[in-house]
Amino acid sequence: RGVVAFHGPRQAGIITDAQDRLAFAAFDVSAGVSREELRTLLVGWTAAAARMAAGQAVADDEAAPQSPPRDTGEAIGLTAGNLTITFGVGPSLFDNRFGLASRRPAALADIPPLPGDNLDPLRSRGDLCVQACADDPQVAFHAVRNLRRLAQGTAVLRWFQLGFGRTSTTSSDQDTPRNLMGFKDGTNNIKREDAASLDKHVWVGADGDQAWMRGGTYVVTRRIRMLLESWDRDYLRDQEQVFGRAKASGAPLGAAEEFDPVPLGAKDAGGELIIAADAHIRLAAPASNGGVTLLRRGYSYTDGVNQETGQLDAGLFFIAFQRDPRTGFIPVQRRLAASDALNEYIQHTSSAVFAVPPGVRDGRDYWASGLL
Ligand code: HEM
Repeated sequence: RGVVAFHGPRQAGIITDAQDRLAFAAFDVSAGVSREELRTLLVGWTAAAARMAAGQAVADDEAAPQSPPRDTGEAIGLTAGNLTITFGVGPSLFDNRFGLASRRPAALADIPPLPGDNLDPLRSRGDLCVQACADDPQVAFHAVRNLRRLAQGTAVLRWFQLGFGRTSTTSSDQDTPRNLMGFKDGTNNIKREDAASLDKHVWVGADGDQAWMRGGTYVVTRRIRMLLESWDRDYLRDQEQVFGRAKASGAPLGAAEEFDPVPLGAKDAGGELIIAADAHIRLAAPASNGGVTLLRRGYSYTDGVNQETGQLDAGLFFIAFQRDPRTGFIPVQRRLAASDALNEYIQHTSSAVFAVPPGVRDGRDYWASGLL
């Protein structure tokens, strides 16, 4: 109960029903580490992750009072909480350190600077990433903390983001949650039941340029701060026009129910578009982007108060999976950055992209075995 299978053709934590909590970490491999040492880290990480996903401690501890326990202990007695641990590698892993340059997939391009970015380099990028999702925040934290501990001497934590509430649905069994702006979020997301869409937009197919990535996907993360103080002063009608949906029901403007088709062409009696030209759901929609569709799986976050402004440091930790960010996130975000009405109320403060290899087949396989 509460256990998501760790082994399989795909990594868990992508189309798995979005859990309530997130702990997302990026790591940099330390200077001087060899490819063999990197492989040893991933073998050890994979074994630990498989155990934690099954609700077990990182390792069976023999009582050894004179040495530190091998598991840090804070998840003892908790259930697995649907924990998934998803692993990825960043573009920087393919520099000249490990001799991997020729294995870099073309789709693992750096995210270019985009209009409106206000990125903190210390919270962006990374050689490796680990996304831990669970229904219990302590279980998710424990997973990242213990992987970090196993990486001692091999990799250092570069940045770490907690998320306290899901802002997406990845199956039609789930209720649509609300983001911190109070709107239902995830309504028009790809759902796990839609295998054809997933094959088309999310999974790398047999035509992927690097064999080790076939069956995998790419993840883009963006920490997007919401300027909640000014949002909270905006009037309801305008808030609804920013997104193009009704706040209470989540229905598209010009339609009645949440899951009604979005009437992008509908006009009011005065001939004006009901869903404004700069509404978020118009600009982000596949229909406005040559069919591009992302699997969104983001979380609300808060990191307390911004000490410079005294305002809440809170927003959306955006996570999107796709088979190629060059034709997925990047062009969609370019369009949003140019004219989304939401831009007045948000600021992108971090950015990262990682290749997420296919799943770990069994107990002998390990993360990114096809690469290393
Ligand atoms: C739809 C919120 C950033 C892509 C939506 C919806 C909301 C929302 C409320 C409507 C419900 C739904 O269909 O899920 C936000 C907020 C953001 C944000 C608050 C920033 C803080 C982004 C970014 C992207 C994006 C950065 C991609 C680059 C989409 C897409 C849809 C969508 C593809 C579905 C549009 C459709 O087909 O109807 N978003 N979003 N969003 N958003 Fe965002």
